[in-house]
Amino acid sequence: MLPVPPRARNRGGVTLPTGHLVGRADELGSLERLLDELDRGCPGAVEVAGAPGIGKTRLLREVAAWAGARGHLVLSGAASEFERDLPFSVFIDALDEYVAGLEPARLAVLDDAVQAELAHVFPSLSALADGREVAAQSERYRSHRAVRELLERLAAPTPLVLVLDDLHWADSASVELLGALLRRPPAAAVLVAVALRPRQTPERLSAALERAHRAAALTRIGLGALTPLRPGSFSAKPLTPPTEPPCTSRAAATPSTWSSSFGRLSAPVRSPPCLRPRWPASASRPPWPPR
Ligand SMILES: Nc1ncnc2c1ncn2[C@@H]1O[C@H](COP(=O)(O)OP(=O)(O)O)[C@@H](O)[C@H]1O
Ligand SMILES: [Mg+2]
Repeated sequence: MLPVPPRARNRGGVTLPTGHLVGRADELGSLERLLDELDRGCPGAVEVAGAPGIGKTRLLREVAAWAGARGHLVLSGAASEFERDLPFSVFIDALDEYVAGLEPARLAVLDDAVQAELAHVFPSLSALADGREVAAQSERYRSHRAVRELLERLAAPTPLVLVLDDLHWADSASVELLGALLRRPPAAAVLVAVALRPRQTPERLSAALERAHRAAALTRIGLGALTPLRPGSFSAKPLTPPTEPPCTSRAAATPSTWSSSFGRLSAPVRSPPCLRPRWPASASRPPWPPR
């Protein structure tokens, strides 16, 4: 049986884990490798799947804390059983408050049409709509493209980890958007980390995740029950950034005005472009990079 950890604290909008994480060494290793990739400028996606109470949220919080300690921007949201009719609700939960606090100049660099699309996705940006029509359902790809561009912007000064929990409850617009982001990831250091209960996951979402997994665009972590505690089975991983950045040969760090959800941002490192395509040549996907 798991020890009951102390209550999590809430700091800066992200609930940080407190107390020891038990076990999960392999899973943490996979997640750490994805963060290393992110530091090299490569986008990625990871799914944490398992039964209720198995530790999905706990693991996501751990990776969020590690990412925050590396100076990544971490934005978290969760789907809710009661918001399945609200389009894009998972993404709104994760991003709306953050984009509301952005200096207007950060969004002004986006195309007018992109801003207008974002205005229809995020309530806090509704003023950007400027009287334009919302994209019809059949033209949702315009919203997808706009959100992809927004994520690219958010990840420009420092990598972005977008955590989407309880995705089995996601509304259909969020599912479509996630599918689009998996098919064509942002051309920036964005890691999308999702958690879900496989048994409650709608077919459409399962299919999108399966496709992405087959195309090597998604790492899958299936959580099983923890084995009984043995002495020393606490995860000994310290919650501190590495003393050396993973790529020491990188160009000089650039200053950043962005604040992370953790209220602290180490100087970001200018990452070389991610040259490794994540999709096989056979997959129906535009050439890399996507623009
Ligand atoms: N590896 C772990 N070490 C310590 N506590 C854990 C671990 N996994 C889960 N817990 C605790 O068990 C409870 C349920 O975990 P949670 O992550 O909320 O499950 P899920 O999101 O899969 O429903 C929480 O109190 C959580 O902190
Ligand atoms: Mg959970």
